[in-house]
Amino acid sequence: MPDVCDLILDDHEVFRRRFAELDDERRREPATVSALWESLAEHLERHAAAEEHVFYPAVLDRVPEGEHEAHHAIRDHNKIRDAVRRVADAEPGSEAWWSAVDAANEENSDHMAEEERGPLSAFRQAGIQDLRKDLGLRFVAFNLDHAGGRALDSDDVDPDEYVQQHGAG
Ligand SMILES: [Fe+2]
Repeated sequence: MPDVCDLILDDHEVFRRRFAELDDERRREPATVSALWESLAEHLERHAAAEEHVFYPAVLDRVPEGEHEAHHAIRDHNKIRDAVRRVADAEPGSEAWWSAVDAANEENSDHMAEEERGPLSAFRQAGIQDLRKDLGLRFVAFNLDHAGGRALDSDDVDPDEYVQQHGAG
């Protein structure tokens, strides 16, 4: 059975690899780097949405300081979404494009490190193995339902509304 904490870490590892590959390909033609980026951008957005759908409601429910952790994560996700939009607005391979890709890398790296030390670690410490497996299945299902970015909402999420909506129950 998949464990939601492991699935999130797996995605983080993939992101680190994909950004490193973009560094390797910095001198390649725009069509190549653009294709690499499009795939990564779709995964970044799907990952953030999957966490907001499956993981952070449970963080709010089960983790001490869950409200603070979820609020912080949503704000980080919005910063990553902003950077992804900035890449989309620039000419692939241009200086502005690479600078937006680098900004996305920085926002995402900072966020992953904080998430791993904070809510992911707290979730593992909470002794809720069965719940982690249930959420793992839901995380897989969400990714299947939205494969390739299908029907995925990539708009910013209001962190206050999110915490209010998911924290009350
Ligand atoms: Fe996240």
